[in-house]
Amino acid sequence: MTAQPNPRSWPAEHAGVTAVGSRPETVDRPTPRAWSAIFRREATGDAPLTTTRIEAEPADVDRHGELIHDWMNRAHVVPWWELDKPLDEIRAYLAGLTHLQPWVVSADGTPFGYVETYRVADDPLAGHYPARPTDVGWHLLVGPERFLGSGMPRLLGWAFLAYQLGFLTTTAGGHPHHGDRVVCEPDARNSRMHAFCRRLGFHAIGEVDLPDKRALLMVCHRLDFMARWTDDRHTISDQIRVQGAITP
Ligand SMILES: CC(C)(COP(=O)(O)OP(=O)(O)OC[C@H]1O[C@@H](n2cnc3c(N)ncnc32)[C@H](O)[C@@H]1OP(=O)(O)O)[C@@H](O)C(=O)NCCC(=O)NCCS
Repeated sequence: MTAQPNPRSWPAEHAGVTAVGSRPETVDRPTPRAWSAIFRREATGDAPLTTTRIEAEPADVDRHGELIHDWMNRAHVVPWWELDKPLDEIRAYLAGLTHLQPWVVSADGTPFGYVETYRVADDPLAGHYPARPTDVGWHLLVGPERFLGSGMPRLLGWAFLAYQLGFLTTTAGGHPHHGDRVVCEPDARNSRMHAFCRRLGFHAIGEVDLPDKRALLMVCHRLDFMARWTDDRHTISDQIRVQGAITP
């Protein structure tokens, strides 16, 4: 891995920014609603028009506990989530989430991903870098192996960035997990996640020592998203339609 900036000398864009506070125990989760993003790939040559609907549903302990337990115990997930626990512990984990909003993500009706969104100010991460009040974050995983490398995870990524950066009509009225910059903190060794995030417009701003891991801190601004989306849409989709709300 290339050398990362020392967190004691953050890039100029972070100079003078004071970290926001963190009191996760006082934070209530907002009432979440399901939402979806529809991606269309235009017909080219012999390839027909294809449409993929990515849907995010608030995770429910009773309905999704077993599914999430299954995914948390998959070999490609265990090293990075470390939640290879019995079902009752996964249920308790989900039931105990406060500032993290859990989502189950489907592609055309088939569940394949689990995502947690949060406001950084509510998370202990805020104490580890010059966080801004409008930073929001995500954690994610793709469960079924057949979805890895399929391109669907990338659509999941685009959909959640659009959601958290406020490009969806579902967030037009404001949402606590909607902000100007999306942050993630993958394990510093998780090079697949780093590459995945870079494709979506994230860039690394440094490594940080968190209680459970050394992490690479990555950020994606609204402009990064727009620039990367425009570059990427020829490889993924010629158009994103999110209830008619996004116009790259
Ligand atoms: C991280 C994850 C969402 C990425 O989805 P994915 O479908 O596997 O992503 P891709 O196959 O498109 O790979 C993304 C990039 O990593 C590269 N890559 C694939 N395998 C890799 C590996 N073992 N090491 C490094 N890079 C790798 C790909 O070539 C691709 O780069 P490119 O777009 O420049 O070609 C998925 O692998 C996953 O859920 N992993 C387990 C959970 C996890 O790590 N979550 C993150 C916790 S913070």
